[in-house]
Amino acid sequence: MNRKKLKIGAIVDGVGWSHTAWRHPNMPSNASESIDFYAAKARRLEEGKFDMVFLADVSHIGPGMIPHYLSMFEGVSILSALSMVTSHIGLVATIATSYADPFTVARQMASLDKISNGRAGWNAITSNPGGLANYSRRHLHKSDLYPMKEEFIEVVEGLWDSYEDDAFMRDKKTGSFLNPSKMHPLYYRGKYFSVDGPLNISRSVQGRPVIFQAGTSNEFMDIAAKHAEGVLVNGDDLHYAKQFGLELKRRVVIAGRSADNFLIMPTQNPIVGRTEAEAREKLQELERLLPPGYRMPKPLLFGSAEDVADQIEHWHGVGAMDLLLLRMEHPSGFDDFIDLVVPLLQKKGIFRTEYEASTLRGNLELPYIPNRYSVER
Ligand SMILES: Cc1cc2nc3c(=O)[nH]c(=O)nc-3n(C[C@H](O)[C@H](O)[C@H](O)COP(=O)(O)O)c2cc1C
Repeated sequence: MNRKKLKIGAIVDGVGWSHTAWRHPNMPSNASESIDFYAAKARRLEEGKFDMVFLADVSHIGPGMIPHYLSMFEGVSILSALSMVTSHIGLVATIATSYADPFTVARQMASLDKISNGRAGWNAITSNPGGLANYSRRHLHKSDLYPMKEEFIEVVEGLWDSYEDDAFMRDKKTGSFLNPSKMHPLYYRGKYFSVDGPLNISRSVQGRPVIFQAGTSNEFMDIAAKHAEGVLVNGDDLHYAKQFGLELKRRVVIAGRSADNFLIMPTQNPIVGRTEAEAREKLQELERLLPPGYRMPKPLLFGSAEDVADQIEHWHGVGAMDLLLLRMEHPSGFDDFIDLVVPLLQKKGIFRTEYEASTLRGNLELPYIPNRYSVER
């Protein structure tokens, strides 16, 4: 049984996560490059009391890719802008550990965390090896990606502890800006990364950004057990999501952490209506955008809002879904979910009616992680 309330996040994919969604009459064809589009979505999701806006990413493209990936904004840039037009919703960017530089990522994410007053999250993925060619890393191979990821995250976490929470006095009378004994270089030496530190930014009100991860392999699970606070799970199969989640939580406990502070996050692309017939109409609208002869498969969460809310309650109840991560196919998908399903989840008492906190950690019921050097004192 799940003792905590359900959390809900939204993957916002510009013109959509398919080849054809952009052709829907209600989809602005420039959505992936429109900050107004993202701002309107984020505000609406905040009205729905969602925990977070989540941006997936891609690091190498070719002409056959989905339109969204062909021409899109970089995630942290979008989220910085969204932080100024929202106040409670979490802001999560995907940045692959296979390509970027850990000092830069630590700095970007810590900045976003402070700019948003403690609402940032980082989805640390390996991504697939294709991107190595864009980041001058052709000498590396697929087998390098997970060992590199582990080092990358150790560096980022270490840099986020560069300053203890009371390091800065900023006392104009005495002239003391910093207490230097509370500044900590890292001197990390690994196979892939060599980073002295410290990072030139102090911690945010939530301590540090929330770390999410996505993957499926054994190597993935071991690193996630040590470093992730939430994991994306393919939600096509309830049984799989539950078993994968249980296995991850088992490893989290072996790694010396509490499984209560670890979120299993199945992704879903529901189609809902007031009635099942209305949902079917929406499915057909999407189907008509496909090339002739193609059928649109029914998503797992499909039908009347009551049916969909009941299924979500079940998934949450059996422990297969701590956080429902929505990725919508239909342009009105988030509106429908917020108008029709959210009130039912609230009536069932499994989803909030008001934000509990102003930080992402607070709303996700994840603990503040104290600075490692303060703990040692
Ligand atoms: C649910 C899920 C979401 C993912 N999202 C992304 C993404 O947004 N961008 C990306 O480049 N790779 C994404 N990946 C791919 C992973 O980063 C990784 O490359 C892939 O899962 C291979 O690792 P594995 O063998 O551990 O599964 C995702 C994987 C999963 C399972």
